[in-house]
Amino acid sequence: MTEIVSRCDFSVGENIDHRYVISKSLGEGAFGKVFKVSGASPSETYALKLLKLWEVPSTIRGELQQRFKMEYETGQIDSQYLVRSLDYGMVNGNPYIVMEFCPNGDVGKYITDDGRSLISSSMLSSVGLNVLYGLQALHSCGKVHRDLKPENVLLKDEDWAVLTDFGISGDRNKRMTERNILGKPMQIFGTYAYMPPEQVKRMRGDATVLPTTDIFSFGVMLYQLITGQLPFGPLTNQNELVIYQQNASSGKWNRYPLSVDGIDSRWRDIVEGCLIPDYKQRIQSVDEIIRQFPEIPSVEPVRDYKGSGSGILLRVMQGEEYGKVYDLNRFMEAYGNLLTLGREENNDLVICEQQSSYISRHHCTLEFDEEYNVLYVRDGQWDKYERCWHTSTNGTYINSSEVNQEGAILQPGDILSVGDTKLRFENF
Ligand SMILES: Nc1ncnc2c1ncn2[C@@H]1O[C@H](COP(=O)(O)OP(=O)(O)O)[C@@H](O)[C@H]1O
Ligand SMILES: [Mg+2]
Repeated sequence: MTEIVSRCDFSVGENIDHRYVISKSLGEGAFGKVFKVSGASPSETYALKLLKLWEVPSTIRGELQQRFKMEYETGQIDSQYLVRSLDYGMVNGNPYIVMEFCPNGDVGKYITDDGRSLISSSMLSSVGLNVLYGLQALHSCGKVHRDLKPENVLLKDEDWAVLTDFGISGDRNKRMTERNILGKPMQIFGTYAYMPPEQVKRMRGDATVLPTTDIFSFGVMLYQLITGQLPFGPLTNQNELVIYQQNASSGKWNRYPLSVDGIDSRWRDIVEGCLIPDYKQRIQSVDEIIRQFPEIPSVEPVRDYKGSGSGILLRVMQGEEYGKVYDLNRFMEAYGNLLTLGREENNDLVICEQQSSYISRHHCTLEFDEEYNVLYVRDGQWDKYERCWHTSTNGTYINSSEVNQEGAILQPGDILSVGDTKLRFENF
């Protein structure tokens, strides 16, 4: 490669490649920097990862760049549980990947510094299962993630997790080459916490990277998400690392926190099967873990709206809350038959639209008529202080028709458009 590589110290407000404007810094690792950026219009929000080629010796730039390109390609695998890559470019000789932005950050923030987990049990099941679906998608393409940890699991919303950071996810049988990319062992203990024994040994010899690598990391991560701790002991210095790896090689993990009353014993069985030191004895496939999974959470229920039950919901089909389901029966139990919807907190249904804000503070009103068993939608809301009706700025639509204050009936299958958000009315 003869291209000139120069340093890029981008800061907020600056543009990258004349195409993306930085709005925030999201994270920085050994080789990359991640920014929140906007695209051609301010409502297009993405995450942009820049490879800091300028910081590495020119002898390894080629290999690193190749791996980065592979990261981009991995992000094109069609799965709802992998962060999608959207664009690839070069700026001052350094490559960058543009990908979908995950507004709720990574799962690492749920583990506190003093070793507690803030994850609820329902979130644990949904995040756990989403991670497994993501791994399933990778493994079925012959790839292994190899760096599974809470920081590489992003949240599209509270119960929808996606995998990212495929930087070292190579072909299934590719030998590990990245061991000392900077010419010295990486002194980041965190990177060892999730590594299976055979991969640690590989640093001295060689072996094949298999899906069982990710299965071990999944076991470590699951343990950590349940207990807030790492399974093989603390990991803050070199001495602890030696003990940690000895424990990992001999299957000595602290089973106690998973054996107490109130913890479903299936979690312990899964962790047990994932943390078996000998990868030939370990759980062999993600499908096997999914089969053992304690609860199938109610995220993304695949219901069709032809159902004739009495339950009704609004499902976000497009917008920042994509995938989210508003169970209207639950809202009506809490707030009555008249529900307000808008951007502001004091609505009954608060729709998040941080990027574009085309939705009004008090956008529309949903009213369930029990006598006729129908749901009306009206544009705007009653302002009880000013004692008048306020309409929305950009209108309320059912399918392609605008709805006024008089309202219209929402039928199952109809699409309700408010601002940049589209919701499908479903009946189950
Ligand atoms: N698409 C994204 N949306 C939101 N945050 C992101 C996104 N990609 C990365 N991040 C944040 O940046 C951090 C680092 O990104 P990552 O791709 O894991 O790079 P690194 O190789 O530096 O670990 C993540 O842990 C996450 O907090
Ligand atoms: Mg990462």
